[in-house]
Amino acid sequence: MGYEAGMKVLVLSLAVVAVAGIRPSKLVRQVPAMYVLGDSTLDVGNNNYLPGKDVPRADKPFYGVDLPGSGRPTGRFSNGYNTADFVAKTLGFDKSPLAYLVLKAHNKLIPSAITRGVSFASAGAGILDSTNAGNNIPLSQQVRLFASTKAEMDAKLGPGAVSHLLSQSFFLLGVGSNDFFALATAQAQQNKTATQSDVAAFYGSLLSNYSATITELYELGARKLGVINVGPVGCVPRVRVLNATGACSDAMNQLAVGFNGALRSLLAGLAPKLPGLAYSLADSSALTQATLANPLALGFASTDSACCGGGRLGAQGDCTPAAALCADRDAYLFWDSVHPSQRAAFLGAQAYYDGPAQYTTPISFKQLAGM
Ligand SMILES: *[C@@H]1O[C@H](CO)[C@@H](O)[C@H](O)[C@H]1NC(C)=O
Ligand SMILES: *[C@@H]1O[C@H](CO)[C@@H](O)[C@H](O)[C@H]1NC(C)=O
Ligand SMILES: *[C@@H]1O[C@H](CO)[C@@H](O)[C@H](O)[C@H]1NC(C)=O
Repeated sequence: MGYEAGMKVLVLSLAVVAVAGIRPSKLVRQVPAMYVLGDSTLDVGNNNYLPGKDVPRADKPFYGVDLPGSGRPTGRFSNGYNTADFVAKTLGFDKSPLAYLVLKAHNKLIPSAITRGVSFASAGAGILDSTNAGNNIPLSQQVRLFASTKAEMDAKLGPGAVSHLLSQSFFLLGVGSNDFFALATAQAQQNKTATQSDVAAFYGSLLSNYSATITELYELGARKLGVINVGPVGCVPRVRVLNATGACSDAMNQLAVGFNGALRSLLAGLAPKLPGLAYSLADSSALTQATLANPLALGFASTDSACCGGGRLGAQGDCTPAAALCADRDAYLFWDSVHPSQRAAFLGAQAYYDGPAQYTTPISFKQLAGM
């Protein structure tokens, strides 16, 4: 290419960049707002504002190393964006709505709640208040924070307008892994395995609290609910490292699979009782199992180790500025010893939005948003 032609291309690309810069609204929103509740897979900074030395926080490098621009930690438990961000992107937003506590601290809660949404997700949270109690915003509290936010929105816009806005908005819910990690820890400490009746009682309390959460969100105005089920908790590096051969814990995976089946029935039974509620249940469990069965097809060279960590499987050390980083972060399923890499989160959101039909029940996130 001659110099002149080269310049033309360069000028043209600069023009494209300039236009894109001026008009990021090229993104077409499929819903007016998004409200997020759940755990560290969705947290975008709430925990950075929670007091307490045992609160899990992704506030140090190398968290955020791949975020565009800054490359700095934001509270996301990822090398870059997380699942909430990528679901938001598929729906036409630039990223997840900001964290409730961040918005509160900057006096921007209601403007954001009205124009794009709020994230209540908190790392460490479970379906049960008792899970990691005191070190996160538990799910029931996240719902209460949403209720108080809605009351303020009502005061600003009027309840009719708010109820219309909420009915069109996307509610993303992803929680449950921490309840299973907490159960496994408690069992190990007591040196026992759960009996069938322990498991039944555990499922019972998870389901009754999940059901209460969904019903409360519905009563507050939610009509489009995207729910991500519990992944193979027995395959995270932190659990694998407990096994001499690095194998997944089948027992933990089976517990999660049993719960996921019950969650599927719960939603199918609950929806007809809540007129106007539509939902999409995303199968994080099946998607991750498919990835584990055929990692190279998806470009993953490692599915058992943390990219950022230390020791065996990268799971014997935390992801800190002193940690060892893997060479190709996109080739790792896991970023740290528990959380998916940015690329894994991206692939998950794509699958839930518009991927193979088997990964969402009864409809996809795209169909849900479009209703
Ligand atoms: C279950 O939900 C109820 C009502 O939301 C809440 O008060 C209770 O603390 C929850 N139980 C647990 C164990 O989280
Ligand atoms: C746990 O139970 C096993 C089998 O009953 C026993 O051999 C082991 O010593 C126990 N470990 C602890 C820490 O109590
Ligand atoms: C490690 O994993 C293998 C394969 O699943 C299993 O047979 C073995 O019992 C596990 N070991 C421990 C200590 O859990």
